[in-house]
Amino acid sequence: MYLPPTDFLPLRTRDGSYTLRSEQLGEQYHSLHGAVKESRHVYIEAGLKQAPGERIDVLEVGLGTGLNALLTWIIAEERGLQVRYVALEPFPVPTGTLRQTDHATNLGMPDRTHAFIEMMAAEPEVEQFVSEAFAFTRSSTSVLDFSAAAEFDLVYFDAFGPAVQPELWTEDVFRRMHCALRPGGSLVTYCAKGSVRRAMIAAGFSVERLKAMWGKREMFRARRPLHP
Ligand SMILES: C[S@@+](CC[C@H](N)C(=O)[O-])C[C@H]1O[C@@H](n2cnc3c(N)ncnc32)[C@H](O)[C@@H]1O
Repeated sequence: MYLPPTDFLPLRTRDGSYTLRSEQLGEQYHSLHGAVKESRHVYIEAGLKQAPGERIDVLEVGLGTGLNALLTWIIAEERGLQVRYVALEPFPVPTGTLRQTDHATNLGMPDRTHAFIEMMAAEPEVEQFVSEAFAFTRSSTSVLDFSAAAEFDLVYFDAFGPAVQPELWTEDVFRRMHCALRPGGSLVTYCAKGSVRRAMIAAGFSVERLKAMWGKREMFRARRPLHP
């Protein structure tokens, strides 16, 4: 059974940005090759920038330190998008630890630190209109209990890896994600494991292998087909 970590050790990754490492889990929140590089490559380039239209509903599985959310907020403003972002996180990272990872400063926007921390610390299940481009809701719901019907255009599937939380990489969970996406919508993840791909296909997705960043050969983008 998964026990959420209580030991959060800030760790500098190869691109200079910070992640958290937990010795209890034997896992970190991002690739050691670069937290920001990974987030940009997997979720922004392969996900957000490929989504059609200017109004995009994003579901994140695993809010963690909020790096994907912060980058999405920044890119939404740069590109004139309107993003509604719902992030699942039953085990939130303490605010003091979020300050130590200091993502806003690492992204060259130290003036955004306060608003970012406020957004992360706000009450769960309440939508916050963070800017004209970005509406954010943190939800305490586990992905194992989550259900939505055709409400999202994009899923950022950023759970801990299958070795740590195998129960999150199953056909049942991917069925929930498939159902939550509108037809034509996509799920992106850093993971490239064969059993995960098979679970996605069994849940109804068509799955592409994409080039990953350093240290990993591939990542997946799974699409809910337009027609069943
Ligand atoms: C790899 S980290 C996410 C990194 C994050 N996206 C970021 O930018 O920092 C995985 C996250 O999934 C969360 N998690 C664990 N069990 C979960 C569950 N059942 N449902 C949703 N999220 C879960 C963990 O608490 C952790 O914060």
